[in-house]
Amino acid sequence: MFYKKVLKPIFFLIHPEKMHAMVLVLGEFFGYIPPARYLLRLIYGYRGPNIAKVIDGVRYERPVLLSAGFDCDARLTQVLASLSFGGEEVGSVTALPCEGNPRPRQTRLVRNKSLIVFKGLRNRGADRTIKHILSKKRVPGYVIGISIASTNNSCVANEDDALKDFLTTFKKMNDAGVGDYYTINISCPNSYSGKDGETFANPRLLAVMINELQKIPTTKPVYFKMPINLEWSEFNKLLKIIDASPYQGVIIGNLNKKYATLDHPEDAPKEYRGGLSGKPCFALSNDLIYKTRQTYGKRFTIIGTGGIFSGEDALTKFRAGADLVQLITGMVFEGPGLMKEICEAYAEEYGGR
Ligand SMILES: Cc1cc2nc3c(=O)[nH]c(=O)nc-3n(C[C@H](O)[C@H](O)[C@H](O)COP(=O)(O)O)c2cc1C
Repeated sequence: MFYKKVLKPIFFLIHPEKMHAMVLVLGEFFGYIPPARYLLRLIYGYRGPNIAKVIDGVRYERPVLLSAGFDCDARLTQVLASLSFGGEEVGSVTALPCEGNPRPRQTRLVRNKSLIVFKGLRNRGADRTIKHILSKKRVPGYVIGISIASTNNSCVANEDDALKDFLTTFKKMNDAGVGDYYTINISCPNSYSGKDGETFANPRLLAVMINELQKIPTTKPVYFKMPINLEWSEFNKLLKIIDASPYQGVIIGNLNKKYATLDHPEDAPKEYRGGLSGKPCFALSNDLIYKTRQTYGKRFTIIGTGGIFSGEDALTKFRAGADLVQLITGMVFEGPGLMKEICEAYAEEYGGR
């Protein structure tokens, strides 16, 4: 309530990218101060029955994670467990540092409960992120996944370059032992031209990529971040390729590219300016989660992402077939109490121990 009535109206007066930057500075700072973490845990920490899950050998104390894109450079890894997150996905990280797209890189669509994201994979690059993660003490029980994408600038000019870029980051992370799981982001809709980030969301190229990935053995689970604007028949072609691989699962899914699906499309720019997060992702991702679970049974780990604004929304994803959920936009709109609410709803539905 305090967040929604007092803080949010102030925060929403500030430009979203500036606000995001401020939260990163503040969150990183709090992460270094044990009493600040303690205070946050006191207010926002889940204290119900044990709801830990082991998925692909990784233990999650709580089944809700921060989705990729909010903490690209791993600056919040010390603080987020205090807000009831069981872990986070750092990144997307690229082989080289990347400035991202020109501003505006984030726009709020308040009536639509959505953000337009045009970040363009802005991040510090694999080397610096590895160093940064290794320099920090791990928070016990807090899972760090690494989302990997290809560098979004003109030095990555074609699919061969992009593949090399992915493999470089994957190998660097794996060799350094950084990351409890890896996500291959084949569906970034906001790299330059709005298309290149999706090069590998194509069955032929995905098969090539998976073939190359397998030459870098890893003991960690590997997931693929899926696009959500595909018809089921097209989506299923990608799943078939992943099914034939040794990799464990999918994250469903990435941003929604279709402004026409907004409740208030008139609030969006006329031209495409990046993918939509939040509510416009909810039904699309739920449908794909459900169909994936129905079609493939337990073959895939499914991480459900997109438009979770309440405990009930998270339960909808679990009921559709998700093993874990991730979020960003719900936290921005509903505040830092959301993750605790989700854990409580989960414990009530599935019974904690
Ligand atoms: C500011 C922002 C940046 C994002 N950047 C990435 C990214 O770098 N890699 C990625 O896989 N997804 C990225 N996403 C997509 C999210 O991980 C998530 O799939 C999507 O926002 C749906 O979840 P939500 O509705 O809870 O925000 C980003 C989303 C937001 C809001």
